[in-house]
Amino acid sequence: MKRIKIFAPATVANLSCGFDVLGCCLDTVGDEMIISITSEPGVRITKLEGADLPLETKKNVAGVAVEALLDNYSEKVGVDIEIFKKIKAGSGIGSSAASSAGAVWAVNHLLDNPFTNHKLIEFAMEGEKLASGNAHADNVAPALLGGFTLVRSYKPLDVIKLHTPQDLVMTVIHPQIEVKTSDSRSVIKQKVTLKQAIHQWGNVGGLISGLFTEDYDLIGRSLEDVIIEPMRSILIPEFQNVKNAAIARGALGCGISGSGPSIFSLCKGMEAANNVANAIEEVYAKTGLEFDIHVSKINSEGIKIIE
Ligand code: HSE
Repeated sequence: MKRIKIFAPATVANLSCGFDVLGCCLDTVGDEMIISITSEPGVRITKLEGADLPLETKKNVAGVAVEALLDNYSEKVGVDIEIFKKIKAGSGIGSSAASSAGAVWAVNHLLDNPFTNHKLIEFAMEGEKLASGNAHADNVAPALLGGFTLVRSYKPLDVIKLHTPQDLVMTVIHPQIEVKTSDSRSVIKQKVTLKQAIHQWGNVGGLISGLFTEDYDLIGRSLEDVIIEPMRSILIPEFQNVKNAAIARGALGCGISGSGPSIFSLCKGMEAANNVANAIEEVYAKTGLEFDIHVSKINSEGIKIIE
């Protein structure tokens, strides 16, 4: 029996201006999974610790993602999956993506890499479809490719890995309330004005240019969302106060992480990121709500083998 243990990282999707198209990969937060190839065909979730999620293969995001991979694989093999959740479901830092991307990456590795990481994105998206009703790729792509990624097109799927400036550090606050991605998507109006679209695509271009040229000020100026944030931020306690505190204490930019309730701040350097962590902790300490704060460098590698 072939078996590996992996670290499946958390991810921050959207990055303010890039709803459903931009994302990046974190280093210090992630799930662990043990994946084994067995001779008994079929996909089984044999252990699930740290979350109350379904063990039934077809109801589990890792299960359906691996089934999608095996449907495209020429031989009949079996897969056993053990999941140790550290990323809370509904946190906005890619919990379902970590499970589905981690599972397909590990199975592909154990089968001697019949698929590219870009192809694995398509299989992992089946997990996202199960989790939220929408096969978005902006969490699974950075988990699988590492660093920052752009989904240039969904049909056909065209995902581009972007450059990661060395000094970028992410501070994420996760208020301990659950916001389901499906609920957070349902508050979004389906129409945008041309004026909003112009504002938003200017920022997407600016952010990507800033990443490639390592222009931290340009990255900061571009972390702005005039379409989704005004609609979703009402679901997040103290959002505006956190944002004001983060910017005042030196964050380049601050916004909703994925579908929330987590809030991300992108910073230049570890010192700035820790200062921002202290500032947002002060804001949240007054609310009486439970919360976690993560400070993480950008993980340019993505999923890693740990055993
Ligand atoms: N782009 C997705 C959304 C990410 O904002 O709904 C979910 O983590």
